[in-house]
Amino acid sequence: MEKLKYRRVLLKISGEALLGDLDYGIDPGVTSNISSQIKEVVELGVEVAVVIGGGNFWRGVSASVNGMDRTTADYIGMLATIMNALGLQNALEKMGIITRVQTAISMQEIAEPFIRRKAVRHLEKKRVVIFAGGTGNPYFTTDTAAALRALEIEAEIIFKATKVDGVYDRDPLKFKDAKKFTGLSFLDVLQKNLKILDSTATSLCMENNLPIVVFDITKPGNIKGVIMGKKIGTLVTKE
Ligand code: GTP
Repeated sequence: MEKLKYRRVLLKISGEALLGDLDYGIDPGVTSNISSQIKEVVELGVEVAVVIGGGNFWRGVSASVNGMDRTTADYIGMLATIMNALGLQNALEKMGIITRVQTAISMQEIAEPFIRRKAVRHLEKKRVVIFAGGTGNPYFTTDTAAALRALEIEAEIIFKATKVDGVYDRDPLKFKDAKKFTGLSFLDVLQKNLKILDSTATSLCMENNLPIVVFDITKPGNIKGVIMGKKIGTLVTKE
């Protein structure tokens, strides 16, 4: 049997990642790439939970800047994450992966409510659990939801999926000489203001010693690569 570095992980996918080449909505090519990568590791026995953002439909902060109450804007954002969760669930199920969606805001006609012990049970049965609705509270991002849920289910690490292959000292798309970090400490992330996860989420990870790996999810095979301990992306740890 292949050696797994991690057995229970929380995958954080931003809403924007689901856009692919679209201006709005969910690109089926993206959800199918993500689903096949998840399938590869579920078949190895890895337990995968997912937290998904909503930025492909709605950005709460921008709406509040434009005059909407922040709380209302954030609730609309939480609903957007639920749409994404259902989209990803569908893509996973098309590939034969058993999934459960749990929402932080009760919407029982659509999905189960978040119940920690039930989520853990689903994972033990090798079902992919998608946590939707953020933390269920305004003023918190889905990054914070990812850190919170990862701690609650005792995930070993957060897989932060992005479109670039790690964390750079400056924007690699703008600067040719941008330098990639292979490893960083939580303190570096906060002090250098690297915005891997927002500061609330980063602090939560730091205080509870929950590592984060930032990697390019657009490249097929990357989730499996990280699971198998290959040096992919940037690893953020205590030291
Ligand atoms: P086990 O208890 O381990 O067998 O898990 P299970 O999820 O298969 O059991 P359950 O009977 O709770 O769920 C069966 C199906 O109903 C699954 O697809 C669940 O996602 C779904 N389900 C469970 N609770 C709810 C709910 O409150 N709302 C909605 N919409 N679906 C639910």
